Amino acid sequence: MSDTTIASGTVLVTGGGGYIGTTLVPMLLERGYHVKVLDRFFFGRDLLAPHENLECIVEDSRKLTAAHFEGVDAVIDLVALSNDPSGELFMDATYAINRDSRIRCAQLAKEAGAKRYILPSSCSIYGFQGPGVIVDETAKTNPLTTYAKANEMAENGVLPLADDDFCVVVLRQATVYGLSPRMRYDLAINGMSEGAWMTGKLPLMRDGSQWRPMVHVSDTAAAQIFMLTAPHGSVNGQIFNVGSDANNYQLGPLAERVAAAVPRDVEIEWYGDPDHRSYRVSFDKIEALGWKAEKIAEDGVKEICAAIEAGTSEKNTRTITLSWYQELAKWHSIVKDVELYGGVIEL
Ligand SMILES: NC(=O)c1ccc[n+]([C@@H]2O[C@H](COP(=O)([O-])OP(=O)(O)OC[C@H]3O[C@@H](n4cnc5c(N)ncnc54)[C@H](O)[C@@H]3O)[C@@H](O)[C@H]2O)c1
Repeated sequence: MSDTTIASGTVLVTGGGGYIGTTLVPMLLERGYHVKVLDRFFFGRDLLAPHENLECIVEDSRKLTAAHFEGVDAVIDLVALSNDPSGELFMDATYAINRDSRIRCAQLAKEAGAKRYILPSSCSIYGFQGPGVIVDETAKTNPLTTYAKANEMAENGVLPLADDDFCVVVLRQATVYGLSPRMRYDLAINGMSEGAWMTGKLPLMRDGSQWRPMVHVSDTAAAQIFMLTAPHGSVNGQIFNVGSDANNYQLGPLAERVAAAVPRDVEIEWYGDPDHRSYRVSFDKIEALGWKAEKIAEDGVKEICAAIEAGTSEKNTRTITLSWYQELAKWHSIVKDVELYGGVIEL
């Protein structure tokens, strides 16, 4: 059994300009890795601070070439259209990016001699599970949305590439929360915190009984780094859920905890049709390996409220993933109609 680890060297992070990436990349740099971020930077190019060991490549993951993998020791393949409603609206692009480009990325990484490939997938592929069921990595999956299906297909595409020289690890992340430079208020705890703090109204998806595992953004980033340094033989070709039992929440009781952590009177504002995605997840496998999540929901709530109060984070079109993609698509079409010779007013 190989005990190779990636404790130093160059890590290619696709989608590194996103919510998880803008937390993960500084953590990698702090640990001494060289980092190449490959991203289209849909959410802006100014969210990663310049660093002598950081290279940013503005590129679409559907156009990856062998050259992008030169000198790369490991890949963390975060790139995706990253939620359910975006997956339904942009279905073809979701399969092309979340499934096809990630499978191709793993193949190119292997051909170029990289030693490790980590696919940050999602616990949402468990979908609805019966009452009382706690799913582990061996459970039958039940992906209910295009986003979840594309993730499962990506998992199935990359895992067979694992061999003695190329370590492949799949991480099924719980729903992430907490403050990050590229902020997402479309995620449950983040949206609840913002609504409660700014308006005193906490948005809660019906009917509140659904189970949802959560993980703090710095914890899931730490899990990805942990998987770089885990011995090849103990993780290769394997799937790990990323989260913790302390962060397995039912949304109704979670809303009450968020409300209690916000320093003002808060009332619940119900929205949506009853959500059928309900899953309770076991995190025993990753904990047995020595990794443990450190944060709970209240940590995220407090840091988000503090950032909003300080004026460093706000809910707007750009911080709601679907709204921003719709906005980009709308303006792309408007600009295309009026653009001539590469310009609009100024040529
Ligand atoms: N945030 C969560 O709750 C969560 C939970 C489970 C799994 N995940 C997975 O983790 C990964 C990262 O999620 P996130 O929350 O950081 O999402 P995000 O939307 O914030 O980041 C995605 C990044 O990918 C980039 N991107 C998208 N399409 C691209 C393309 N074709 N070429 C180049 N760059 C492109 C975007 O510009 C963005 O910077 C995704 O694979 C997501 O499915 C996230």
